[in-house]
Amino acid sequence: MTSHVTFHFNPVPPMNRSDTMLANNRRWVRERTAEDPDFFRRQASEHRPHTLWIGCSDARVPADLISQTEPGELFVHRNIANQVVPTDTNLLAVLQYAVDVLGVQDVIVCGHEECGGVKAALEDAAPPTVSQWLAQLRTVARLHDDELSAIADPMRRYVRLVELNVAEQVYNLSRTMVVEQAWARGKTLRLHGWVYGLREGLLRDVGVTLDGTPAAERREEAPSAAGAPERIAESALRSGGGLRAR
Ligand code: CO
Repeated sequence: MTSHVTFHFNPVPPMNRSDTMLANNRRWVRERTAEDPDFFRRQASEHRPHTLWIGCSDARVPADLISQTEPGELFVHRNIANQVVPTDTNLLAVLQYAVDVLGVQDVIVCGHEECGGVKAALEDAAPPTVSQWLAQLRTVARLHDDELSAIADPMRRYVRLVELNVAEQVYNLSRTMVVEQAWARGKTLRLHGWVYGLREGLLRDVGVTLDGTPAAERREEAPSAAGAPERIAESALRSGGGLRAR
């Protein structure tokens, strides 16, 4: 790759990047106001996102850009490897505010290929605090070890763990008090698992959507030609203990 291509979008030395970001902000305000004079007034007057996005902190997976949503549409929580840890008060507060106050109807857990957190969990290589954070992800890998170790290609094994991780985090979400109570009172709330393919830029649904319908009914309705998504649901349902769907 030539230096021309490398620096095309950011032709300044690293020291000045924060200044560049501030300057770009001014330009963005001018352009936005020119095409939509009321844009910022509307932004200030209400906060009514339709979706809670739980994604990875990875810089290459910006929720609004890849989903082509505008400011105001997504309530966002991001952490390393898009974990839903039942004792994480940060996530639980975000979830409760999103569901009970903002009234979102969809929650998306979005993992991504080339996830450093997932690789670290498989390879047991991460700084101590990160390693501690990834403990639950290592449990996911252990519970699905039969399937994962049968995959010879390390790249495909990573991708499969990315998918399984997303599925397990959706199930973790479904067992939070916030979600259980929302479903119990009849609120429309759908939990989705997606994976972002970094190489081609495409989001894909891994087919583990939960909407409060009991697992037995969902299995009867599940499409049979679904391939990978079906396998995720099946393997998650087969697994014991905390991995049962709902
Ligand atoms: Co990641």
